[in-house]
Amino acid sequence: MPGAAITVPVDVYRHQPGVDSAPRFQHYSVEVAPHTPVLSVLLKLRAETDPTLSLRYSCRSAICGSCAMRINSKSRLACETPVGPEVERHGRVVVEPMANQPVVRDLVVDQGPFWRRYDQIEPHLKVDPKHPMPQGRPNPMTPAQVERFHDTPRCIACAACYSACPAVAADPEFPGPMALAKLYRFVVDPRDAATQDRLVRIQTEGLWLCLRCHLCTEACPKDVRPSERIRDLKELAIAAQGVTERGSRHAVAFKENLLDRGTLSEAKLARQTFGLAGMVGQLPHSLAILRKKPEVARKPPAIEGKEELERIYAALDKESGP
Ligand code: FES
Repeated sequence: MPGAAITVPVDVYRHQPGVDSAPRFQHYSVEVAPHTPVLSVLLKLRAETDPTLSLRYSCRSAICGSCAMRINSKSRLACETPVGPEVERHGRVVVEPMANQPVVRDLVVDQGPFWRRYDQIEPHLKVDPKHPMPQGRPNPMTPAQVERFHDTPRCIACAACYSACPAVAADPEFPGPMALAKLYRFVVDPRDAATQDRLVRIQTEGLWLCLRCHLCTEACPKDVRPSERIRDLKELAIAAQGVTERGSRHAVAFKENLLDRGTLSEAKLARQTFGLAGMVGQLPHSLAILRKKPEVARKPPAIEGKEELERIYAALDKESGP
């Protein structure tokens, strides 16, 4: 019977920094219907078993973004994740706080770093004071113009993308997937007067640190697809400024390498990315790699089936237009 209660083993991350010596997992067992959301299970535990369990939530309807947490290692909204499929797939429900943000207590994190990175990209419309928007017509955009960013306003700032992002974990300069998706929204807004400035600045403020892993898109509960918006931003940045930054040089060299041999020539890729002068600064790093893998200095043979790659690139070029 689909609605019959099941026994759900739940392991919840518990930690009170400054009080507990180390984080731990506390095990619980709850009887609930399979469609019960993880959030409801946690609230039941707090009400009936352990009033000290700390978590954030508000709307319980996948609207406010407050209840994002890691459920069986995936960053998700607890109020829209039913326990049944989790138990079927993993045998239990393991609940942890969001990654890439300091834990305040148990499942509550400090979102300060997330919002600071967001603020840096100035996510608001900048209207040219010499050309103010026409009075009485506050939205002078065509449907086609609105269509270009129609999915980014769906974002509820839950930070699931930020939690899932390895670039955020690796580099404090990276603005994060949500911030870049929001930046895209203003870059393509025809009313914004700072498009060129935004595209130039973001190239040295973390745009090219994106690893293209698409984990943000997988995590996003609102299908904003931040990794696709970051890709769009990169294309717009190259169109606005040319191939001038290390990140854009690397992207273009990557494609050239693949079209040339069907695989990467690591030495050539590094030379094209950093330039000869830049290679000097990379010398200790390059020598360390060469000592371990001398073959990277040699030009690799072209792979079989390289034509298939050429066909893929030709199709992509045709799709994205001139
Ligand atoms: S409680 Fe608001 S999104 Fe889950």
